[in-house]
Amino acid sequence: MAAFSGSTLLRPRHVQRRAISQKTDPSNDEPDAGFTLDPPSGTRDFFPEKMRMQRWLFDRFRETAQSYGFQEYDAPVLEHEDLYKRKAGEEITEQMYNFRDKEGAAVTLRPEMTPSLARMVLSLMRAETGAIAAVLPLKWYSIPQCWRFETTQRGRKREHYQWNMDIVGVSEVTAEAELLSAVVSFFENVGITSKDVGLRINSRKVLGAVLNTAGVTSDKFAETCVIIDKLDKIGADAVKQELSKQVGLSTEVADTIVAATGAKTLEEFADIAGVGESAEVQELRRLFALAEDYGFADWLQFDASVVRGLAYYTGVVFEGFDKAGVLRAVCGGGRYDKLLELYGSKKEVPCVGFGFGDCVVMELLKERGVLPELGPNVDMVVAAYNADMMGKAMNVARRLRQTGKSVDVYPEAARKVKKAFRYADKVGASRIAFVAPDEWERGEVRIKDLRCAADTPNDKKQCDIPLDKLGEIDNFFS
Ligand code: HAM
Repeated sequence: MAAFSGSTLLRPRHVQRRAISQKTDPSNDEPDAGFTLDPPSGTRDFFPEKMRMQRWLFDRFRETAQSYGFQEYDAPVLEHEDLYKRKAGEEITEQMYNFRDKEGAAVTLRPEMTPSLARMVLSLMRAETGAIAAVLPLKWYSIPQCWRFETTQRGRKREHYQWNMDIVGVSEVTAEAELLSAVVSFFENVGITSKDVGLRINSRKVLGAVLNTAGVTSDKFAETCVIIDKLDKIGADAVKQELSKQVGLSTEVADTIVAATGAKTLEEFADIAGVGESAEVQELRRLFALAEDYGFADWLQFDASVVRGLAYYTGVVFEGFDKAGVLRAVCGGGRYDKLLELYGSKKEVPCVGFGFGDCVVMELLKERGVLPELGPNVDMVVAAYNADMMGKAMNVARRLRQTGKSVDVYPEAARKVKKAFRYADKVGASRIAFVAPDEWERGEVRIKDLRCAADTPNDKKQCDIPLDKLGEIDNFFS
């Protein structure tokens, strides 16, 4: 067993070295192998206070998804590495926590959920006589932990939880409208408005039309998009260079594409791209019109520069952004109609969805001051007057829990009532039950209300409640 170095642990917190010595013999002067108290770089511990906040956030994610009729699913955090072997040069494939397991299988901690969803949908379709239409459309959501070996910065970690909502089997932009509306509903539920956050919308199909007109084959499409996505990072000249060197685009086509991403409106975009009022442009217009009717159009803006860095998107793409311009993308998604074919589907299966990380939105909620105050969720503490009453106190706790309350048994016999009160206060209980011999002999338990502020005659601060009436405890205080 490793011995903990007492001096490390006893130092005041602000000067504490966050390390534990692994030396078993302090007189041994071999170098100290020590291990750190911090979790691995870019990962997080969730102490109870932070965990409560995380649960609160996840509850809002779940509430929203369920209010749109979505079903929850999950998959293992460990995935087949092959699922992410895409050749378009995406950053995500370089960031995997991949390794060989003890049987030599190439596995990875999932960097995102979409390929797992595709795998699951595909297996479902095969199980069902191969008749794809029978199980569609699917509306599924999940909150997976995802792992990416990234440079950590504000809102970006090496693990994050990502709320995903996806619709499988709908090729119309009604699916996009539904998903964007869900994102907006979530924001509205947590007190974020369209003054704080916007949703930038574009369609890769328009870019596809430009490439098509220029005679570029469709197998270059994904790679082209991944390169264009680097505009912010490496600048227009470098992007044009990569487009001609790696994809083989002519200077003219590369110039047109890069110029088109700077367009301010859909009309300008279509104009520069030379696609006019094409079907692709009309589809985007329909999405904006649906958002108008739905009632959330004020959140949307067309942005030709949004292409997204994942290879599989084929149509509408979108990103949520902080209007103050401080934080990185809050969420992102799009249509990926060809991903299932990549995994062996005989037919194209229309899919669209988004991923919404927990880190950036927490930063945003903190900045806007809309995070709730969440205390521990204990309803009652039960304290025994002395050691002999401890078993009885436990029996009282059991009866109270049967009423659905969360009940904490104060672990010591509490002749010193003050200590038990302090404890009850610390855990946020609103009542305390004292199990003492006098009341017990009368078949009763004394319950004190800790949240009753005033000494008004109607306020009941204390009640002796018969044991067989503990199930109706709330009536005694109403
Ligand atoms: P993504 O844009 O890579 O898309 O990630 C979606 C969201 O996850 C980001 O906008 C951000 O909120 C969060 N996120 C991503 N990486 C990190 C990180 N390192 N630290 C913290 N948060 C992060 C996808 O992953 C797609 N699979 C989403 C999707 C679902 N598309 C269709 N369905």
